[in-house]
Formats: sequence, C-alpha cells, structure tokens
Amino acid sequence: MHRLNNKRILLGITGGIAAYKTAEMVRHLRKAGAEVHVVMTPAACEFITPLTLQALSGNPVHTSMLDPKAEAGMGHIELAKWADAVLIAPASADFIARMAAGMGNDLLSTLCLVTQAPVYLAPAMNQGMWLDVATQKNCETLVGRGVKMFGPDNGYQACGDVGPGRMLDPDVILQNLAEQFETGLLAGKKVVITAGPTREAIDPVRYISNHSSGKMGFALAAAAADAGASVTVIAGPVNLETPDRVTRIDVADARSMHAAAMEHTANSDMFISCAAVADYRPETIAESKIKKDPGAPDQTMTIKLVRNPDIVASVAAKEDRPFVVGFAAETNNVVEYATSKLQRKKLDLVIANDVSDKSIGFNSEENAVTLIGPDFEEPLAKSSKQLLASQLIELIARYYKEMK
Ligand code: PMT
Repeated sequence: MHRLNNKRILLGITGGIAAYKTAEMVRHLRKAGAEVHVVMTPAACEFITPLTLQALSGNPVHTSMLDPKAEAGMGHIELAKWADAVLIAPASADFIARMAAGMGNDLLSTLCLVTQAPVYLAPAMNQGMWLDVATQKNCETLVGRGVKMFGPDNGYQACGDVGPGRMLDPDVILQNLAEQFETGLLAGKKVVITAGPTREAIDPVRYISNHSSGKMGFALAAAAADAGASVTVIAGPVNLETPDRVTRIDVADARSMHAAAMEHTANSDMFISCAAVADYRPETIAESKIKKDPGAPDQTMTIKLVRNPDIVASVAAKEDRPFVVGFAAETNNVVEYATSKLQRKKLDLVIANDVSDKSIGFNSEENAVTLIGPDFEEPLAKSSKQLLASQLIELIARYYKEMK
C-alpha cells in the first residue's frame, strides 16, 4: 500500500449496491497517504450520500458538471488533469456501456474522456448483466483502449443470484491499484527538510541573515516527494513556490525553525538539514527602530550576539531519532571540516558544499557537493540543483536502507 502514498486518486462511483463499500475504500486510500477526490454519478447518490464521502475524503464531492460551486473549486478539466489514476468502483453495466461508446453525458464519463491518467474499472452488476454479450463486448473495447479491469468476483449477489459480477473486495481493489504504481525509493517514509536562511531580528526593521535562497532545500523536497515520501519542508524566509505534494511550514528565525524541526521530526524517518541557520542572534531585540545620533558621525554600535540552538544536532540527539543528513557549507578544507561536522553533530551523512565558488552554493542555480558517510565519500559533479537533488535523494535512500 506504500505505493499509494502521495498519489492523487480520482474515485468514480456509479450506481450499484456495492457503492456503500466505497466509504471504507476512501478511508483506506487516505490511510495509505493518497489524496482522494470523489466523483459520483446521480445513480450513485441514491446508494450513498456525497456528504459521507466528502467527510471521509476531506474534499468536496463532485456530482455534476453544471455545479458552479464545484467548478469554482476545481473545474472538471483541472480535476481530470490532477489525477494520477482514475478508479471507478463500482462500475455499472450502464457506465461501462457509456464509456465504451465514448459518451460524455455526465461528469464522470466526461472526465474519462479528458484524463491522460490510467483508468481502472471494478465492475459490479448482476451476473446476467455481466455475462450479456453487450457488456462483454463493451469491456473488450475498453480493455483494447488500455483500460484495466479489477474483477469482477464470483459468488453470492445482493439480488440472490450466484455467479460472476460481484465487486471485488475493496482491499483487493486497492491492492491491485497500488501495484499499478512503481515503488518509490522513499515510498511511505516521512521526511522533514529545512531550507533557506533564518532572520535574526535586531529591531523591528533590521535583521541578520545570509544569502541562502532555499533553492537547494526545495529541490530536495521535490525530489523526496517524487521518490514517494511524505515531505514537510520547514522554510526560512524564501521567495519560492512550494513543490507539489509537499507540506510547507514557514518560520523566520533559528529558534522557531528549531521548535518546528523538533515537533515535526517526531515519528519521522529522515531529517535533511539544508537550511543556512544563523549561528548567532542579537542578545536583545530593540522594541523600536534603533536611531542614530545625527550629531555623532563617528558613532559606533555594538550588538552583542548569543548562540542559537543547533537544530540538526538537537534532532540527532533525540532518543527516537530519524536518519539525519546535514549539510556543511565550507570555504576551505571542505571535506575535512564536513567530516568533523558529521562526527561532532552525530549525523548519519553530511553533504559538503564548497561555497567559496560563487557559481555553486548560496543563491545559485547550480551546485556541486560531496556526500560523506562514516567510511565513504561520493563527489557529485556540478549540475542544476534539481538534478543534483534527485541524485542526492537516490543516494541518501540507498544509504538509509543500508545503514538503518
Ligand atoms: O539555499 P540555496 O541558495 O540553494 O543554497 C544552498 C546552501 C548553500 C544553503 C546549502 O547547500 C547548504 O550548504 N546548507 C547548509 C548551510 C550551513 O549553514 O551550513 P553550516 O556548515 O553552517 O551548518 C552545518 C549544518 O548544521 C547544516 O546542516 C545546517 O543546516 C545545520 N545547522 C547550523 C547551525 C544551526 N544553528 N543549526 C543547524 O541545524
């Protein structure tokens, strides 16, 4: 079921007694980490209420193309494009016939015409209807177009008949669905990543910070989500869009990043500390804007700084710690200093970043790093932060499995 983590499932429900089983199916899909939007035909609404499925899916249920409220939330074309997979369960004989004929006479059939995502059908109907030559021909047509059938099952039917046509057990349908997705390297893992700079206030309008743009951390978040992980990025002040399928928590200073990291790494599998956290903050923050003395051009000012908490070391010191990967931004003796940070902060892996080269590191589009473990070093050549992030996530996932 881990393969369903982070996946976007459009569940189509058509009219049939098995529709009541979809409530459980939505619950299991959510538990497996999938996001679910439910589309119901008018006949389906006779068997189970949209309200039930809305409560369970956490999203508004779509029942009509002409519903301006639903269209304003997510239009039907957008919904068709949103899905990673369309699962229609139960799929009635009528719906299968309409789909085989290429009709778009309700929301669900229209979505099936629009979507580029694979479509899976779990047929459910009376055995006579299933065995009828017209239904068999319609299924053949759909299978020929690449639609996959899950079932039907054989056995007792609600109408009292015995034979083929029962909807497969919801667990079996979801197992079949999960098998259609590749296993991501981090499927089912909970990953927390810090990104960007922190800002340490001096007074209401001034702060101490650095040049981190958050690009490296956000690229890692996107790559980890692509690898199937549930990702939370704790971001300092950055000007970036949140990657798809990533939960974002915005913080400003080191102490709030520390609190967020301590909270969100509870029950997490991996922590990647990419943020450029200010090591020091002003001891006191002036309540109002600090004014210069106009009559004293030689005036100097001293700000006393105190140490900030070390976030990555605090996470690594937790009793039930996740796998911890730190970064080391160095300008000289890069590998040597990074290795000492690996040991001192009790990290599992450290990524050494030579920030003396302006074309890589802080606020650049590209980066080049060396991944360092207890007894190995793997240099990664200069490339875009996106490509580098995918390479890093692949390596980190491999070492995570070996070292855990
Ligand atoms: O954001 P970009 O513009 O894309 O740039 C990316 C980057 C250069 C910021 C990134 O690749 C990088 O090197 N990040 C680490 C920056 C840094 O502050 O390194 P450091 O050597 O000072 O810290 C070592 C490790 O301790 C890091 O994992 C850091 O997140 C962590 N740390 C540091 C201080 C602190 N108080 N708490 C921490 O958790």
